[in-house]
Amino acid sequence: MNAAIEERQTRLLAADAAGIAEAARLLSTGGLVAIPTETVYGLACDATDPHAVARLYAAKGRPSFNPLIAHVPDLAAARRIGRFDARAERLAARFWPGPLTLVVPAVEGAVCDLARAGLPTLAIRVPAHPAARAVIAASGRPIAAPSANRSGHVSPTSAAHVLADLRGRIDLVLDAGPCPVGIESTILDASGPEVTLLRPGGLAREAIEAALGAPLARRAPPADQDAAPLAPGMLASHYAPSVPVRLDAREVAPGEALLTFAGARPPGSAEAVAVLDLSPDGDLVEAAARLFAHLRALDGRGARGIAVVPLPRHGLGEGIRDRLARAAAPR
Ligand code: TXA
Ligand code: MG
Repeated sequence: MNAAIEERQTRLLAADAAGIAEAARLLSTGGLVAIPTETVYGLACDATDPHAVARLYAAKGRPSFNPLIAHVPDLAAARRIGRFDARAERLAARFWPGPLTLVVPAVEGAVCDLARAGLPTLAIRVPAHPAARAVIAASGRPIAAPSANRSGHVSPTSAAHVLADLRGRIDLVLDAGPCPVGIESTILDASGPEVTLLRPGGLAREAIEAALGAPLARRAPPADQDAAPLAPGMLASHYAPSVPVRLDAREVAPGEALLTFAGARPPGSAEAVAVLDLSPDGDLVEAAARLFAHLRALDGRGARGIAVVPLPRHGLGEGIRDRLARAAAPR
């Protein structure tokens, strides 16, 4: 796959009218463009163009082809690439645009096989971010967009994060400042008899369960595109800082940095290499928005590890804990 990596000059443009027009032009000619979404920055390409999708996999340094999310401007466009039953329609009407991805049976030939990794289903999302919506609408095609990070790295929530990972490998970064949600979309599989939760994320489980009127079962996705091969009984390492991450820490060990929440200062905090609080007020929405930037910042401080205080499980806490568990998984 290395042979496919081309050296490119990566431009950085503001997400204004000119930047959006240039992004759409590049996408309709097979280019690779990092775009802001409300969750994280995505690395976008034309989902109908297998050459563009192959270059995208190569730019991420991905060991294997895993399925990508197709991004469209609205439900009408989504119906042209996926089959929506009454249940999927209800979820889409309730939560789109927003941080929810729905896996539904694919309309054959609507996106290229490589973007679907050959699966009979397709993951579809209608983002809420105005810049993402403008670029996708102007491109006039479904846009494949995994998180705009190198394989195995934490997802980018700013243009600077994207450049740190992908400079020289992609054509353009469209800069709209930090991503407001900060963790990836929640993924639901609505292709089978039962709706299941494949990935907790920026839309809280409680909101979905209220809309469905039933509890949601959790199931592992077929493949996580940034993850190492999944060993039995082990979480895939993902979103990985370079130093070990220790969860549910009740104290800070010598040489560790501390990622904390709601002002908690466990024993040893005063000697920590660095301390960052996800939300001093204990707000889980704010914590999600800061998660990846704080992980990157603590990773750069020369600590021998990152201790993380116990975090709540409700609301966006489920998605935050999921990302941290992956960051802490053995690799
Ligand atoms: O918030 C997000 O969803 C971001 C922004 C850029 O939209 N995108 C994102 O994409 O997180 P990515 O490629 O990093 O993660 C997509 C996940 C992968 O774990 C993949 O395995 C799963 O979606 N997926 C894609 N197609 C699938 C399918 N047909 N069935 C089950 N899982 C699927
Ligand atoms: Mg990703």
